[in-house]
Amino acid sequence: MSKICLIVGSPRKNRSCNFLIDQAIDGIKSVDGEFEINKIQITDFKLAPCNGCDQCLRPPHDCPLAKDDDTIELEKLLLGSDALLIAAPNYFGSVSSQIKVFIDRSRPWKMKSYMLKDVIFAPLASTGLRNGGQGVISDLINFGLIHGMIVVGNAMGSPVLEGNIPITSLQKFGLKEFVGKGEVDELGGLIAKNTGKRVAELIIKMKK
Ligand SMILES: Cc1cc2nc3c(=O)[nH]c(=O)nc-3n(C[C@H](O)[C@H](O)[C@H](O)COP(=O)(O)O)c2cc1C
Repeated sequence: MSKICLIVGSPRKNRSCNFLIDQAIDGIKSVDGEFEINKIQITDFKLAPCNGCDQCLRPPHDCPLAKDDDTIELEKLLLGSDALLIAAPNYFGSVSSQIKVFIDRSRPWKMKSYMLKDVIFAPLASTGLRNGGQGVISDLINFGLIHGMIVVGNAMGSPVLEGNIPITSLQKFGLKEFVGKGEVDELGGLIAKNTGKRVAELIIKMKK
């Protein structure tokens, strides 16, 4: 069975990033195949910020901080996945601090000879305004590339009508109206759903 891990990167558990991840899960489920889906709320995991001790550079490449936080629990859900999707909010053009800590603390997985190599990786971003999500996507792409993952976008449907950057927004496509409380960003949702679908289809393709 293929394993897909999805991370909600916001400290808010039930808002835009969660919406994107749920849409991506819908996309995965629309594909004919057997998938173990592990949805992670990053805020549920106590992760200490990297202190730069560089212990992960030396065998056995273990992080001393992992003894006192939830890294091991997170590793169990994440490592061995065929694909990883992260939805992060735009905080000043970058990812949330929770996701930044996660990224930095993932260094041992790279130092233990690229444990995430060839995992399919898809970045998603939610933002208050349309602009700014690019920085989040770029941070996540760099994370994926530095780990040797295979970074993908949605590339589904019509690029003109559906857009091809997986960013959602509180601002409506019409640019003047804003999405009100309880409304959803349909475009963002569609893109996230297509991203999940693409990832699932790609796993099947690669395993053939
Ligand atoms: C500290 C902080 C900084 C933010 N900076 C920006 C920003 O620079 N540009 C922007 O468009 N939205 C910004 N936002 C808004 C969030 O990106 C937006 O509300 C996002 O959808 C939050 O995701 P969530 O609903 O999953 O928590 C910021 C929010 C916070 C809390």
